This record gives sequence, structure tokens and C-alpha cells, in this order.
Amino acid sequence: MTGRLDGRVALIIGGARGIGGGIATRFAAEGARIVIADLEDADGMALAAKLGASYHHADVSDPAQAEAIVAAALDLHGRLDILVQNAGIYPWTLIEDTSPEEWNRVLGVNLGGCFLATKAAVKPMKAQGYGRIVLTSSITGPRVTSPGHGHYSASKAGINGFIRAAALEFAGCGITVNGIEPGNILTEGMQAHRSAAFIRDMESAIPVGRMGTPKDIAAAATYLASEEAAFVTGTTIVVDGGQLL
Ligand code: NAI
Repeated sequence: MTGRLDGRVALIIGGARGIGGGIATRFAAEGARIVIADLEDADGMALAAKLGASYHHADVSDPAQAEAIVAAALDLHGRLDILVQNAGIYPWTLIEDTSPEEWNRVLGVNLGGCFLATKAAVKPMKAQGYGRIVLTSSITGPRVTSPGHGHYSASKAGINGFIRAAALEFAGCGITVNGIEPGNILTEGMQAHRSAAFIRDMESAIPVGRMGTPKDIAAAATYLASEEAAFVTGTTIVVDGGQLL
């Protein structure tokens, strides 16, 4: 059986677990060769072993490390077709309590990571004349928000603006740049620590009647990362079970 990503090389940053882990797993099942970058070495190495992928420890907010993981993917596989920048952090802090350091950290990982990874990845993609860039945004920021999410909302709304500008800059080079806006997805980092009562309340607020899963996001990422999505660029797909309706 042929996969939708057969022969493609995919770098998935923030791919050790949660949504990124789901994307890595699906991409591998679709025939891609996977490079995972993350800070969670135990999870990252375990998933890489399961998928026959390679794992690299890297902080995507650091320019040299972002370049190093792209270089590692090129060294291993000779090309880079797909970049997924999914690493994100989600502290809850009211604006008056947010230190400049915390603000910079959230913006630096969530938004800066998208800039740095894209900047590094487009060099080989331009040389190949082919690339798919998929950035994980959120419904929180571009569309809705709540107290405690000032830094996070700014970072995710910023990703959507960046996606449009990058899509325009690289549209003539065979490179598409798109994003996904997840709703409430049950993952280790974001939701799994919530109480059962919180999750029940959340489920009743989602029209399809359940929380999302990493598989739901991976399905959208697979489409955006595939050749079929050649005419889709500069946009985002909302995957939220109808929560915004
Ligand atoms: P998670 O915490 O389970 O996974 C995030 C991964 O990114 C972790 O493996 C973490 O180690 C890695 N990471 C964090 N900072 C990093 C850095 N500086 N460099 C490299 N890797 C780093 O979180 P989850 O829920 O899977 O979220 C993934 C993405 O989806 C994030 O960007 C998040 O903002 C976004 N998102 C999640 C939603 C949810 O409900 N779970 C909703 C909307 C957006």
C-alpha cells in the first residue's frame, strides 16, 4: 500500500509526545522518514525507536539549535520535504503577574520557534523546489481567549500572521506554509492533568461531544503536508469539534 507521504522526509519539532507525537506516528504510517526534535529525551527516544525515526534534543527557540536540527535531517536523509513546528508552551499567568522573562519565553518558543525553524528549513526546500511547512497555532489567540492567556494568545495570533507572510514569500518556490488551529485536545502537556469534572464540562461545550485527540490534528497535518495540498497556502485549518460555532 502506498502512503500519502511516501519517500518524504519530515522534521517534527515538539514531536516527542502529545499532538506532535500523533503527527509523527501518522506521518510514519503514511511512508515518511521521520526526524523528531524535542526537549523530552525519554519520550522522544522511545517514540523514535517505535517509528524507526531519529531523535534530536533541541530547543527550537535557540537559533543555533533550530539550524542544527535541520542540518541533522539533511545529513541523515539528504533532503527535507516537510517541516512541522509544533513545540509550544502553555503557562497560565495573568498579565499583571507575567514577568518580561516569561513573556519572552512564551513568545520565543511558540512564535520565535516558528520563525527560526521556517528560516532554517526554507534553504533546502528552495533548493529542492518543494516544501510543506505546517505550524501549530491554536483557536486561542487568533479567535478566542480567556484571562491568563495574554502571552500565549499573542504568540498564537502571531503565528497566523507569520504564516500568511511566509506563504507569500515562498509561494513561487514550491513551498506552502499553513497552520492548524486545534481546539481542546487531550494531551499530556495541555489537558491530561485536568480534573475529570473539567473534562466533562469541556466535552459538553464541544458540539461533537468529546475532546479532540492527537489523531484528529494529525489527520489535518497529513493533508497539509501532502502533495495534494499544493494549492493551499497561507491559511489555517480549525480542528475543534465545532467549539467555535
Ligand atoms: P505537549 O506539552 O504534550 O507537547 C509539546 C511538546 O513540545 C513537548 O514534547 C515539549 O517537550 C515540546 N517542547 C516544548 N518546548 C520546546 C522547545 N523549546 N523546543 C523543542 N520542543 C519543545 O503539548 P500539546 O498539547 O501536544 O501541544 C502541542 C502544540 O499544540 C502546542 O504548540 C500547543 O500550543 C498547541 N495546542 C494544543 C492544544 C491542546 O488542547 N492540547 C490546543 C491548541 C493548541
